[in-house]
Amino acid sequence: MKLSVSLAVASLALSLAAVAQTAPTAKPAAKPKVAAVTTVAQTPPMGWNSWNFFAGKVTEQNIKDAADQMVATGMKDAGYVYINIDDTWEGQRDAQGILHTNEKFPDMKGLADYVHARGLKLGIYSGPGSKTCAGYPASLDHETQDAELYASWGIDYLKYDLCSFHRDVMSAKAPNDEAEQMRLMVTAYGKMGKALQATKRPIVYSLCQYGWDSVWEWGPSVGANLWRTTGDVQANWMSIYDIIGQNAGLAKYAAPGHWNDPDMLEVGNGKLSLAENRTHFSMWAMLAAPLLAGNDLPNMKPEIKAILTNKDVIAIDQDKLGKQATRAYVDGEVEVWTRPLAGGAEAVAVLNAGSDHVATHPFHLSLAKLGLHGPQKGKDLWTGQDVTLTENQAIELKSHDILLVRIAAAK
Ligand code: GLA
Repeated sequence: MKLSVSLAVASLALSLAAVAQTAPTAKPAAKPKVAAVTTVAQTPPMGWNSWNFFAGKVTEQNIKDAADQMVATGMKDAGYVYINIDDTWEGQRDAQGILHTNEKFPDMKGLADYVHARGLKLGIYSGPGSKTCAGYPASLDHETQDAELYASWGIDYLKYDLCSFHRDVMSAKAPNDEAEQMRLMVTAYGKMGKALQATKRPIVYSLCQYGWDSVWEWGPSVGANLWRTTGDVQANWMSIYDIIGQNAGLAKYAAPGHWNDPDMLEVGNGKLSLAENRTHFSMWAMLAAPLLAGNDLPNMKPEIKAILTNKDVIAIDQDKLGKQATRAYVDGEVEVWTRPLAGGAEAVAVLNAGSDHVATHPFHLSLAKLGLHGPQKGKDLWTGQDVTLTENQAIELKSHDILLVRIAAAK
């Protein structure tokens, strides 16, 4: 398919996807078992994905640049590993059903070698339907063939996006039976899960079906390492704050090898203020979310690099205990979240969701409501200063800003 045609199809498909993402959850769904122990994603995957900045325009050169910049900026040293190509790399299938890349990606094996040579890993994108969200060929009826193709290229991560499967199979086969639609969806995700495992290559399996049918309950059973919990993130505060709220209550589903995915990072994109970028990054770390940067790495501003490479915040995300934060309490427009960490440490985040700091002022932190007793010594992870949190302490935060403290030994 010529690129111009593909992009026209893409915008139609994207609007259909946007509509589809608002559909409600239905139950129950079948739970196919995919035997195999996952060795990947023992902590939430970290890397970069092409979609949030490049969308349908991404090229091989952008991927190479991202890999180079990952190394040059110190992001690789900070823990970022995966360079993930999102939608619009796909070409056409040949007579044998083998999928080829389009003209933007002339040599996928060569690209994988390029990325691997820099000590990084390469991710790719497809879906269970006949078409991806941008209207390119997807994996319906070619699951095994595609999984083998990815493995032969040296792919390390697959994002598998529902998109046209809704129209092609769910609505077509069970137009009036939502429970059956969900069973069909779960089965399709299980099919690719098995196909990936059959390749014997360790490939992170990332489900993208917008949290439908409480995916966190069945994701591990289809071999998934992570699953999107919501519709698409956008580079604005309302979207980010909305997604944070939708992930409250999902903590018990996160564990090493299996993560809730509140979508990729928008840090450095759009018109997010520095406070909003900090809060976005902090809360993704609290949520044990995959940290997949989505910004323009070759043109990254120093203050954005400082956020994305804050090692203390990344350490919260990557904490070995693998426990996601819970929202401890809400007071007006201020939210307090806590996350238990390995070795008896604890992360506390105080987030001002209000549009001006006067609206919620004064806020006094209740340690008692967090189950903490007496002064708590810790570190403010954005100033780097040692701090002691005390009962009823007044905390003043600007609009959409956050206080993120690591308490060394929570009492
Ligand atoms: C969907 C996904 C996005 C992105 C696009 C690509 O909207 O949710 O993350 O992958 O498709 O077309």
